Amino acid sequence: MSTTITNSTAERKHSHVDICLREDVAFSTLTTGFEQYRLRHNALPELKYADLSTETDFLGKRISLPLMISSMTGGYSEAADLNRKLAEAAERFQLPLGVGSMRQALEESSHRDSFAVVRRHAPTTQIFANIGAPEIAKGLSDSNLQTMIELIRADGLIIHLNAAQELFQPEGGTDFRRVLDAVAAITAKLPVPVLVKEVGCGISGPVARQLLKTGVQVIDVAGAGGISWQKVEETRYKSMFGIDTRFSTQGLEELLNWGIPTTECLVEVAALRENSAGTRPFSIIASGGIQSGLDIAKSIALGADLAASAGALLKALHADTLEETLTAWTNDLRATMFLTGSATIAELQKNRPISKQ
Ligand SMILES: Cc1cc2nc3c(=O)[nH]c(=O)nc-3n(C[C@H](O)[C@H](O)[C@H](O)COP(=O)(O)O)c2cc1C
Repeated sequence: MSTTITNSTAERKHSHVDICLREDVAFSTLTTGFEQYRLRHNALPELKYADLSTETDFLGKRISLPLMISSMTGGYSEAADLNRKLAEAAERFQLPLGVGSMRQALEESSHRDSFAVVRRHAPTTQIFANIGAPEIAKGLSDSNLQTMIELIRADGLIIHLNAAQELFQPEGGTDFRRVLDAVAAITAKLPVPVLVKEVGCGISGPVARQLLKTGVQVIDVAGAGGISWQKVEETRYKSMFGIDTRFSTQGLEELLNWGIPTTECLVEVAALRENSAGTRPFSIIASGGIQSGLDIAKSIALGADLAASAGALLKALHADTLEETLTAWTNDLRATMFLTGSATIAELQKNRPISKQ
């Protein structure tokens, strides 16, 4: 089935979902790196499987599983249905959930309900607002910040850094000056935590260090190995213009696979925490290509506090198997906890039962 491509902001948001569901937009020459790691078997777990707990704390709240449903959508009429279903799953499983970029909610009040629906269906879980680097660099008014937080009674604001996506997007915003200053200004004035994520090209250790100095409380590495947003936007570009002559053939192939693998980002950012005497505590989310509870377990054993997933959960939602998928991932994680002798998520993180293959 071919994907219909149009270019108003609302239609763009719609086509993002369509493309992620119907086209092959996965990285083809890069992987997450999770396959290079092996959790270490413990022949003497000294645990009862039934007693294991996958619960953990995230930003002061107890959640059932170290997993966030990553920011995806909102801002067009059909998004309300997707967001309602994601919210219902988040509430049932007590998982944090990020909404998609709220730019549309700020630009057109008619789109606000496609975000507000999330809080109605997830009254007790953590819900995070979301906005992109290009918008904050242009300057977001205090009233815009307030609207995003109040619309969904957000537990925090996620700022996404998406330079490669904007570069490939036919109508992308490519002025990424003053983003760090804007993050610092928002962090200083918001009453809720600020989280920063990429969208699949990854946040390196040095970039995370710069962000943490501004008071950001959570780094979601969103590394390469899952969806390539360059490929998503390239699909839109080609459907509008036929052929992409912006780059050389060889250059294009490499740029479509541009990014830092998820595990590489995670190892670098986790090392910052180990060497961070005197800096404020922060949380780490591992995302970009999470496909199973084994990936979640490896993330925790490599130092993350949570994992997060978008593409795989969107596909499960589309196939009407979101609940089964979350249950299977929970069971995967419980199996690895049992077999590594980790009774809790904190033990899995502290004992690091993982090695490179
Ligand atoms: C349909 C769709 C829409 C997305 N929209 C947003 C967005 O608005 N804001 C954002 O921060 N990330 C957005 N993302 C990116 C994801 O949150 C995630 O960082 C990225 O897809 C990599 O994770 P994955 O490999 O698990 O999909 C979107 C992802 C999908 C699948």
